[in-house]
Amino acid sequence: MMSYEQALEKLKSAGQEHVLTNFDKLKEDEQAALLAQIEDMDFSMLHYVHDRDQLPPRGVITPLGAMELSEIEKRKEEFREIGLKAIRERKVGAVLLAGGMGTRLGSDNPKCMYDIGITKHVYIMQRLIENLMDVVNAAGGVYVPLFIMTSDKNHEATTSFMKEHNYFGYDPKCVWFFRQDMAPATDYEGKVYMEEPYRIASSPNGNGGWFISMKKAGLFDTLHELGIEWLNCFAVDNVLQRIADPVYVGAVIDSGCTSGAKVVRKVTPDEKVGAMCLEDGRPSIVEYYDMTPELLEAKDEKGEPAYNFGVILNYLFKEEELERIVNDRLTLHIVEKKIPYMNAEGEHISPKEPNGFKFETLILDMIHELDTCLPFEVDRTREFAPIKNKTGIDSVESARELCKLNGIEL
Ligand code: UTP
Repeated sequence: MMSYEQALEKLKSAGQEHVLTNFDKLKEDEQAALLAQIEDMDFSMLHYVHDRDQLPPRGVITPLGAMELSEIEKRKEEFREIGLKAIRERKVGAVLLAGGMGTRLGSDNPKCMYDIGITKHVYIMQRLIENLMDVVNAAGGVYVPLFIMTSDKNHEATTSFMKEHNYFGYDPKCVWFFRQDMAPATDYEGKVYMEEPYRIASSPNGNGGWFISMKKAGLFDTLHELGIEWLNCFAVDNVLQRIADPVYVGAVIDSGCTSGAKVVRKVTPDEKVGAMCLEDGRPSIVEYYDMTPELLEAKDEKGEPAYNFGVILNYLFKEEELERIVNDRLTLHIVEKKIPYMNAEGEHISPKEPNGFKFETLILDMIHELDTCLPFEVDRTREFAPIKNKTGIDSVESARELCKLNGIEL
């Protein structure tokens, strides 16, 4: 383990030596815990709080069309066969991104444990596994290898929940868990907050680190042994999520693209979803808050809004391409957040207003690292019921309505 001197050196180079101010007052095990955290943690991005102009600028945005529902409908059977063949040959794995904090939903438990049932228990995880089982059954009982990303904050709870519920009928031998990294959280000056005298305030470092975290967890060997060629990554919170959807998998394989993204037609051009586009000629996603008035008004040759397809966090990646880009630096997102911390008097503070920054990379930025992407349109009433909030837009309420519409008993 790192010595005190080495830790101080590492902190100094990041301007964070205040972390060790009370080191002498800590108990031995607390000292060890703090040194281990410092050793593990990457502080190299913190200077961007002051040097934001050094972050790479956005490129030129131009439209990228999607494969639309009408075309998919026509070629559905052909795509399904290609997809099912790959699934039967165990070339397709699924990656559940479940490391987020789900702060907007505001439950103490991991989001996957949230129960949306009314007359019976229907946990979010259960919904996801039920949907994946449809594919297992269609593939003649071949289980899709399922990799689940957790974070230090929810790993124990998530794994014991799965065990308690017997993996909701999934084959435990086909499930692997791995943890994502944590990133420090800072005040507006870029100084890390302390959560306890012996612990730096930290949070999961965004969903963009999933593949490097798989590597650190030693899962590349597993991917190779299994012969995985495609990975389908998806968010935990969409209870209508289709996972390893054979038609989608088949369409992407058939297209020759190295990635795919499920998209929905936006309700309005300014809907708050990231839109598929090209950026300097490469596939990319422009976040809704980066949409300029020109982009919002732009039309395609059919007179439709040119940036009309929003991503729903369901991506398909060619595995060998991921290995090629695994060490690429993704865009750093510096996000203002409420960060619970311990003040100089040793009191725990839970701020009501944002008080600093968290540092994240996002999976949507990985699409830009790949040469090609097939945006694949899906019907939002059938496949998109995200739960971000308790009520209102993208909530437990709206997701329940959509489940009902799809004949799912709650
Ligand atoms: P969100 O940004 O919607 O989820 O992530 P969140 O961070 O859990 O929610 P809020 O903002 O605190 O309310 C979309 C998906 O990415 C995963 C989430 O679990 C969700 O499936 N995610 C997010 C991670 O796996 N790791 C992260 O660090 C962040």
